[in-house]
Amino acid sequence: MLEAQLKPRSHIIEDASTLTDVVLDAMSKAPDLRLRQVMASFVRHMHDFAREVRLTEAEFELGLDFLNRIGQATNDCHNEAVLFSDIIGFSTLVCLLNNGQNGATETAAALLGPFWRMHSPQTENGGSILRSPTPGPALFAHCRVTDPEGRPLAGVEVDVWQASPVGLYENQDPDQVDMNLRGKFRTDDEGRFWFRSVKPAGYPVPTHGPAGDLLKAQKRHPFRPAHLHFLAYRPGYKTLITQVFVDDDGHLDSDVVFGVTRALVGDFAEGRGTPPAPDAGAPWYRLDYAFVMEPGEAKLPVPPIR
Ligand SMILES: [Fe+2]
Repeated sequence: MLEAQLKPRSHIIEDASTLTDVVLDAMSKAPDLRLRQVMASFVRHMHDFAREVRLTEAEFELGLDFLNRIGQATNDCHNEAVLFSDIIGFSTLVCLLNNGQNGATETAAALLGPFWRMHSPQTENGGSILRSPTPGPALFAHCRVTDPEGRPLAGVEVDVWQASPVGLYENQDPDQVDMNLRGKFRTDDEGRFWFRSVKPAGYPVPTHGPAGDLLKAQKRHPFRPAHLHFLAYRPGYKTLITQVFVDDDGHLDSDVVFGVTRALVGDFAEGRGTPPAPDAGAPWYRLDYAFVMEPGEAKLPVPPIR
């Protein structure tokens, strides 16, 4: 009896029904408990997935090729893995599970997306994030950062990045200079930061890779409603990664990456009277938005692009 207990389990495979247990046994001695837990669950779900759909060999090959193409389509300027995760709602799921008291309540957080870059230019409050001529309606954003009790948070570093009024980020567009429509601000003693920009436009996510092929096969449009991205960082608070959406965008209720929650729809009010800057012209817009940071760990994500 003792000998049988000590003898390692045979990993010779009998049939499809017993395979999963054998694989789980082979992975059961990983010293890292979290690795053990995550991989055991992953394998169980993957095996059950193949059983449920009766995955064919041709479909298996297609799936492997799809994964390989995700890697091949990724480079310094484009992250296809993030994009694929985004269009199947997985990025938003992970975001919702890890914010708003671990998924229990509505959150001000949203997915990072594939376009955040580190080292955005430090910009004074009231400054512009236009670094090369960028036609479009002027936007004056007035934002505030508080803790959950509504107390202002000073000294928060806030990254802002957005697409231009033609729907392209600077790294996708030869007509924009490096770091156009990107800036890093610091909240003042009242938790405020403010800047000038242009009203962003919605845009299609890149469709040249396997994620785009999937969208086409599913008869889905590739558009995101117009938005501004924010990343707020202050030690002692969970880094807030979020997006604020333009309220009159036609794709607001069909974001291809499932990023829109009700709390993130901004009020982009068309300005009346004299604009805050004499060269703003008409129409111009004003956005007022308040961000709430939860206590927690301040940690920056890995930039999806350089
Ligand atoms: Fe975006």
